[in-house]
Amino acid sequence: MNHIKEEVSIIIFGASGDLSKRKLIPALSELFKAKAFKTKFKIVGYSRSQFDLETFKAELKKIAAYKDIDLSFFNEISYVSGSYDQLEDFLKLADHLKDKPQNKLFYMAVPPEQVLPISENLFRSGLCTKGKKGHFERIIFEKPFGTNYETSRELNAKLLGYFDEEQIFRIDHYLGKETVQNLLAFRFANNIFEPLWNRSYIDYIDINVSEELGIVGRGEYFDYTGITRDIIQNHALQLLAMVAMEPPSSLNSTSIRNEKVKLLNSIATPEKFIRAQYEGYHQEKGVRPDSKTETFCAIQLSLDNWRFADTPIYLRAGKALMEKSTEISIFFKRVPHKLFKSVGISAIEPNVLVFKIQPKEGIHLYFQSKKPGAGFKISPVDMDFSYHNEFSGRISDAYERLLLDAMIGDASLFIRGDEVESSWKIIDPIIKKWNEDPQTPLYQYKKGQLGPDEMFEFVARNGHAWNQNICRLKI
Ligand code: BG6
Repeated sequence: MNHIKEEVSIIIFGASGDLSKRKLIPALSELFKAKAFKTKFKIVGYSRSQFDLETFKAELKKIAAYKDIDLSFFNEISYVSGSYDQLEDFLKLADHLKDKPQNKLFYMAVPPEQVLPISENLFRSGLCTKGKKGHFERIIFEKPFGTNYETSRELNAKLLGYFDEEQIFRIDHYLGKETVQNLLAFRFANNIFEPLWNRSYIDYIDINVSEELGIVGRGEYFDYTGITRDIIQNHALQLLAMVAMEPPSSLNSTSIRNEKVKLLNSIATPEKFIRAQYEGYHQEKGVRPDSKTETFCAIQLSLDNWRFADTPIYLRAGKALMEKSTEISIFFKRVPHKLFKSVGISAIEPNVLVFKIQPKEGIHLYFQSKKPGAGFKISPVDMDFSYHNEFSGRISDAYERLLLDAMIGDASLFIRGDEVESSWKIIDPIIKKWNEDPQTPLYQYKKGQLGPDEMFEFVARNGHAWNQNICRLKI
């Protein structure tokens, strides 16, 4: 594991919120447990909730994430309550930070409308500004980063008035997942797959981000966002970029992000997409009674580039589906010669390579094998690699890795400004069509299904199938 060699203060805005309590502070506690901090560190919670430090710590300890943790971790935590739009509260925060490490990592775990007031006050109070020398001042921004191309551009431009791009860390927590980083190793540390990684051998790609949970308690956010903005614009497009980009010339953040932007910019304006909503969505708290917000979508994309021209890429995401599963399936073209026709085998299933991003993290390669016994029968079998069997120890949470990287100053797993803008450009025409054309069907599905029935026809018209229909072997 990398270590944080410099002293650092970590200041969390929205400290009393769910993200901070369930993900950020537990991730910091894991880094502490793994002895990642080589020198002094302090955690400062900041939020509008008026409670004292002891109440704040008691709230944190209620969360079952601190097993086997040396309780001295909690001695490093302090709390400041204040508004997000009053300069004097930021001056109070500056005063609180005076005797703490001067390297600062700020985390925006707040609703999007608070991001600009906080940024302005960080700048005006001198707590975090562009062009500082001697120590670092960085900020992590949570998604959503804007709500479309225009607003993301405006937000980028405003932030660049206060901070340098090198200080801005836009997070997509999927990039912190081990299995997502492993896409780099799989593709570029092995020689046998890359020669096949193109339109000559790959028939199509299916990227699936399914969740079993509905919108549990997030109705107000989700109903104005929808699954396309919530998952496709960021997580699914990042998975696509990692799986389809050209090899970067080095592992530094500029090279990797240049390749991702190039890939995103090669995506043609999407023309085929469907949306659906689960039955009972309107009964969820915070949802408008006549809401047409999609809780499922499937999109077909094509890449205008040499490697993947004419190779359909399907992205789908949904809530309240059969199971939680994130996977990327690469479907290879079928064999060209029907050698086994003479023994009664006319259709041979394609080879499929499946990256199980989560859960049951691993990689599976499906290929055909002769069934033992007389005659000649063929059946697909699974060559599998499972993280659980291969590597001992727990897989660290994405936030651990990303917080660590931000403290070290490695931005490779964070999103650059132009990358966010490029992603919105892909999604905007879809949302626009849905908003402007009320006739666009909004299909229905029952909770616990794979998705709406129409999703099958969506790929079948191209002679394709989703991976659940092909890879019948149990993962
Ligand atoms: C978040 C979305 O970015 O990712 C949520 O806003 C979604 O709606 C979550 O549930 C999924 O993350 P993970 O790591 O559980 O797959």
